[in-house]
Amino acid sequence: MSPSTADPLWWRSAVIYQIYLRSFADGNGDGIGDLAGVRQHLGYLKELGVDAIWFTPWYESPLADGGYDVSDYRTIHPAFGDLTEAETLIQEALALGIRTIIDVVPNHISDQHPWFQAALAAGPGSPERERFWFRPGRGADGDQMPTDWVSNFSGETWTRTTNQDGTPGEWYLHLFTPQQPDLNWNHPDVRAEHEAVLRFWFDRGVAGVRIDSAALLVKDENLPEVPEHPGPGEHPNQDRDELHEIYRGWRAIADSYPGTRVLVGEIWLPEIDRFAMYLRKDELHTAFNFDFLARPWEARELRASIDETIAAHAPVDAPSTWVLSNHDVTRPVTRYGRADSSFAFLKKRVGTPTDLALGRRRARAAALLTAALPGSLYLYQGDELGLPEVEDIPADRLEDPMHFRSGGVDPGRDGCRVPLPWSGEHPPFGFSPAGASAEPWLPQPENWAPLTVEAQQSDAYSMLRLYREALRLRRTEDGLGDGPLRWLDSADGTLVFSRGDAFVSVTNLSSDAIELPDHVAILLSSDPLDRGLLPPDSTAWLRTQHGPPEVA
Ligand code: GLC
Repeated sequence: MSPSTADPLWWRSAVIYQIYLRSFADGNGDGIGDLAGVRQHLGYLKELGVDAIWFTPWYESPLADGGYDVSDYRTIHPAFGDLTEAETLIQEALALGIRTIIDVVPNHISDQHPWFQAALAAGPGSPERERFWFRPGRGADGDQMPTDWVSNFSGETWTRTTNQDGTPGEWYLHLFTPQQPDLNWNHPDVRAEHEAVLRFWFDRGVAGVRIDSAALLVKDENLPEVPEHPGPGEHPNQDRDELHEIYRGWRAIADSYPGTRVLVGEIWLPEIDRFAMYLRKDELHTAFNFDFLARPWEARELRASIDETIAAHAPVDAPSTWVLSNHDVTRPVTRYGRADSSFAFLKKRVGTPTDLALGRRRARAAALLTAALPGSLYLYQGDELGLPEVEDIPADRLEDPMHFRSGGVDPGRDGCRVPLPWSGEHPPFGFSPAGASAEPWLPQPENWAPLTVEAQQSDAYSMLRLYREALRLRRTEDGLGDGPLRWLDSADGTLVFSRGDAFVSVTNLSSDAIELPDHVAILLSSDPLDRGLLPPDSTAWLRTQHGPPEVA
């Protein structure tokens, strides 16, 4: 059952809606989503039935990586609003029973941040440079990078600086773009500043933080090359053991506040046991489970992911999270419509053939499947509308550094960040108010009229209505949310499990329609049944017994 705002364990079952602020709703007509736009649509989120909203970074930033390059943690980007408005929004949302989670980006800051500007100005050997990873280059002229580490955004991880006198200077480390220099987490200022930032926002009523790139902060000071097969804790810039002590400190801060303030890690790690170590009682509350979204739409694969996830979380008594997408990955409607429906950053390719009708059916089935699994659920804005990945954004409108750094091989992530369609027949589809002075910052497809909130509200079979009904049932059905799951025997290609005493979820990933197990009612199905059978690529939620007799 879904949590109430008074519940200290709210996060164990919560449905958390991810707001990519630039693309949610534009309140002032400049083509960029903002806090005013979110405030106008809080009623929509309430009606959708979410427990919390998570904002991708809303701070002052040059937006070299969509705001994951923060130049001032205590200021809202002026295109989005200001601090007073953020405080108002947090309170208005709470009044509707919706908590606010914000993003913190501790691995790196913007190259425009005063710390980095001071480090550049102060020169080699200065204390200002100690907060980062400045190093001389290798080779006689120092013109080779200090390591050969490869960036998560493809390409190099070091950029050479120029000294005040114009001569080539030291290099600095950036696991992402050159505009995102990595911080040195061995430096006390770095630790103290982030703890102060946490307090700053907890003081303003945020219910939690999503921690960006949470497993990358600490580096091996000797800067060795990445071993071919690094053992646990042996990678020089990932999953280092010292991270746990940092998060224990953060947890102590979170726990010192009234209500439960949660720490949610963005942790991409192949070893699920190492992943679970971050979720020990005195560390993070939860972390995104990316394994499930990386798997193809195949029963055996998804079953393995579910089992492995639940098994890994059990020893640390942390709830699993279920995540079908976010602002970094291909939209489910598109991904599930492909011959290879698994996800990996390195295999994204422009022009992969896609069957969107198939993808939409599967995305509907996946929505019900994940909403029935134990733990908390993440919903990325626009997935409730079944938006596809936009793959034909004109080249001169693309912004994502992932695209540019791959030399154009990787389509980048702009396609899942296109502004939401709210109403009307033509762009901007109500994203911006009538008479707006600018077009949406990324162009919307002309054919999105059937996908607007307005259009879907009046269509009983729309994705939006499916999500609303699923989240409503998730709140009212005993057994959903946190708690045990029991697999029931079922045919190959199907996933059938019970939650509580009277609820069963059936997903059919086979190519034949299947019979449903015994039930007294069908609560919801992602597709209409076909002569009593559940069609391929569908999920049904069943009531399997009548409730206890009413006591007179
Ligand atoms: C995370 C964010 C992504 C960002 C990267 C660098 O993976 O989700 O959007 O580009 O970190 O901060």
